[in-house]
Amino acid sequence: MSIQAYAEKATCERLLSVHRWTDKLLSFRTTRPAGYRFTAGQFARLGLEINGEIVSRAYSITSAEDADVLEYYAIIVPGGQFTTRLDAMQPGDPVWVEKLSYGFMTADRFTDGRQLWMLATGTGLGPYVSILQQPEVWRRFDDLVVVHGVRQREELTYVEQFEALRRQAGEQGLPARLHTLRCVTREAALPPGEGLLAGRITTLLRDGQLEQAAGLPMSPEHSRVMACGNPEMVTELRELLRERGMTPLRRAGGGQFVTEDYW
Ligand SMILES: Cc1cc2nc3c(=O)[nH]c(=O)nc-3n(C[C@H](O)[C@H](O)[C@H](O)COP(=O)(O)OP(=O)(O)OC[C@H]3O[C@@H](n4cnc5c(N)ncnc54)[C@H](O)[C@@H]3O)c2cc1C
Ligand SMILES: NC(=O)c1ccc[n+]([C@@H]2O[C@H](COP(=O)([O-])OP(=O)(O)OC[C@H]3O[C@@H](n4cnc5c(N)ncnc54)[C@H](OP(=O)(O)O)[C@@H]3O)[C@@H](O)[C@H]2O)c1
Repeated sequence: MSIQAYAEKATCERLLSVHRWTDKLLSFRTTRPAGYRFTAGQFARLGLEINGEIVSRAYSITSAEDADVLEYYAIIVPGGQFTTRLDAMQPGDPVWVEKLSYGFMTADRFTDGRQLWMLATGTGLGPYVSILQQPEVWRRFDDLVVVHGVRQREELTYVEQFEALRRQAGEQGLPARLHTLRCVTREAALPPGEGLLAGRITTLLRDGQLEQAAGLPMSPEHSRVMACGNPEMVTELRELLRERGMTPLRRAGGGQFVTEDYW
């Protein structure tokens, strides 16, 4: 799309900083457009200027709803048009941010249930970083369970941030318990005692290891589930949840899970 046409629905913001977790994973921050509103769990659409045109992609926001800046968590896709450019960018470079925020994977849509399970592969973790920065979710649920599935241990990111959120919640007297489970699929041996599980999220849910590690059964009565990331994981998970008697969240009310595909 031409820059001129894109300027009707987006504003030109600036890249503020880039934090590199690995050679392929990074978190980056942009200025926040004046008056920009989003609900934790939603995504922004960002545009980069490439060869005089705008290339736009969806990015979940990892920031708190009231943060001064917007943060996102990204993987650099080999040969990917948007992310190859992103990888080469420097603070101060322009990043276009669409004026509207998008997406339905927000915790406020669950009107009942006592546990919130937040399942992610790869960068699908991003929305939960934002959701867990909202005090309301710590009041609303008894248990918050984050499950992050990655290929290699080095891709287990935001570990310290989740610890800090748990500490802060304790200090503020917020009642929910935060459980963080980490699943690694492509390492020959995992060190014992570090809370790591070996295998795909779907396999570990099917065979009961996830619930055992969380110390919580997943049930239609008490559990509400979000799943985000690899579309094949999301599809398989939806089947698994249906087998357990759970249904997708409906606008009219009812349902226990909501999902988001990243490609
Ligand atoms: C609702 C939504 C939210 C998204 N949020 C994020 C986010 O927070 N962080 C993020 O990194 N990406 C996110 N994505 C994906 C992102 O929009 C782009 O697809 C990604 O930046 C690749 O763009 P590209 O032009 O470099 O590569 P493309 O040429 O578009 O390459 C696409 C291919 O790259 C792979 N791929 C794309 N995204 C990912 C990913 N996140 N993890 C692993 N493989 C991937 C897939 O094989 C896909 O077919 C989101 C997508 C959607 C639909
Ligand atoms: N060329 C391709 O076809 C292709 C496909 C996917 C990703 N990629 C690229 O590889 C890079 C790595 O991305 P990534 O590691 O963040 O994403 P990913 O490939 O989605 O892997 C993240 C985690 O999701 C798991 N997973 C994959 N499919 C699943 C399923 N159906 N059910 C349950 N879990 C599943 C993976 O397990 P496993 O280790 O068991 O797969 C891994 O633990 C990206 O740059 C991406 O573009 C390429």
